[in-house]
Amino acid sequence: MSFDLVLFGGTGDLTWRKLMPALFQAFRHGTLPQEGRILAVARDERSDDDYRAFIKERFADVEISKRPSDDEFERFARMLHYRRMDLSQPEHYAGLKVWVDDRGADTVVLFLATSPHLFPVVCQQLGEARLNGPNVRVVLEKPLGHDLASAQEINRAVSAAFSESQALRIDHYLGKPAVQNLMALRFGNALFEPLWRRESIANIQITMAESIGVGTRGDFYDRTGALRDMIQNHALQLLTMIAMEPPPTSDADAIRDEKLKVLRSLKPFTPESVSRDVVRGQYKAGMVDGKPVVGYLDEAKVPPGSTCDTFVALRTEVQNWRWAGVPFYLRTGKRLAARDAQIVVNFREVPHPIFPGNRQANKLVIKLQPEDGLQLHLLAAKHAGGNELLSPVSLDLDFDKAFASERVGGYERLLMDALAGRLNLFVRSDEQEQAWRWVEPVLHAWARDPAGPRAYAAGGWGPAAASALVARDGYVWVEEQ
Ligand code: BG6
Repeated sequence: MSFDLVLFGGTGDLTWRKLMPALFQAFRHGTLPQEGRILAVARDERSDDDYRAFIKERFADVEISKRPSDDEFERFARMLHYRRMDLSQPEHYAGLKVWVDDRGADTVVLFLATSPHLFPVVCQQLGEARLNGPNVRVVLEKPLGHDLASAQEINRAVSAAFSESQALRIDHYLGKPAVQNLMALRFGNALFEPLWRRESIANIQITMAESIGVGTRGDFYDRTGALRDMIQNHALQLLTMIAMEPPPTSDADAIRDEKLKVLRSLKPFTPESVSRDVVRGQYKAGMVDGKPVVGYLDEAKVPPGSTCDTFVALRTEVQNWRWAGVPFYLRTGKRLAARDAQIVVNFREVPHPIFPGNRQANKLVIKLQPEDGLQLHLLAAKHAGGNELLSPVSLDLDFDKAFASERVGGYERLLMDALAGRLNLFVRSDEQEQAWRWVEPVLHAWARDPAGPRAYAAGGWGPAAASALVARDGYVWVEEQ
């Protein structure tokens, strides 16, 4: 298969931090079709060779095992090209169209790794330049809007030029191997399905904790906040994967229809439930990994007195027969104690305990980060002092060992899917808009709340109110057990 992959925003952070390393990994793994060209597009003047040198230098920031040797880079770099474009100039798109048509590749993927405020104009220009034929797909990277109206505006501009099946919205969490394993676990095995419901499950916890702060992105982050940055997209996508009904087939739309139903079933927020069920936090100075770190308000480019949320914990429910009454707790934050992303399915306790000792209920932990994997926590009998006591054991499913192959990273997987036209792991516009509809009342309530975010010390697990939120139902966050 021949392809042209055009990266708008070709000199930006996303391109050299995530996309180029992912493309290189695919190249190394032999999954990137050799008949391909990767064209970086940006505003400044550079030759292909200048651009190759720029990318080579940036690989110094990539972890060592994922860095190319000189020889590997030279072979990979033959695919790399550069083109100067002013994204407001129609003739520059016409020039791009000539470049693409000259080759006549089987597939053309246009990746918009630019600032999202450019999406409408770029899509419009691509449409006018007829860079939207049936072999063309456009990939959009978040943030896709900052509220429902702005997301709809982007979607209107995209759909004026491209059909829904040509528009691929990335949520890189869906590319993480553990998330695919979750689909396989649920729909490739009969074991869990009878238990996957309110009768057997007490609560579900989704945690996406980061130990990093906002770094140099203070200005972007301050306009965004944790709710928009992590909950509206990544956390809700994980929730849909956990809560969805079995789709009739593995087709992209069959899966996305089920995910949309979950989003539509989420309990809507009211001003009262926001103050009861949502905790907003902002980090103060503290210690992370044994080193002192500054508070959010002292980070570069953060406006004085900002009320931006760097932490959110919330409680919601999926209002349908399968999940009625089961709390779903979502939690994310910067400058927390560890980089740790996991989904925990907490099963109910045994109805009538007959053994002494531990009564801990079973739980299934789906680890997304730092390593991915799956653990099933059970209780087993242990002889102690002549007594049979229950004590916890865990069944660890080590996929790396089982498949004896290197795991494929999120972006690598999603880029290869985009080239191959596999849409399962991309988010449809109606899912994305529904997610905005659900978070908007929280944003509105916060805008009217003079109390602002609760302070939490960097290096901890967020404000105490986040523990209280779960304790109110008689539970604790899993890392507190
Ligand atoms: C991005 C957010 O979508 O996800 C970042 O914008 C966040 O703020 C990142 O750091 C986390 O991704 P990962 O894969 O490192 O957990």
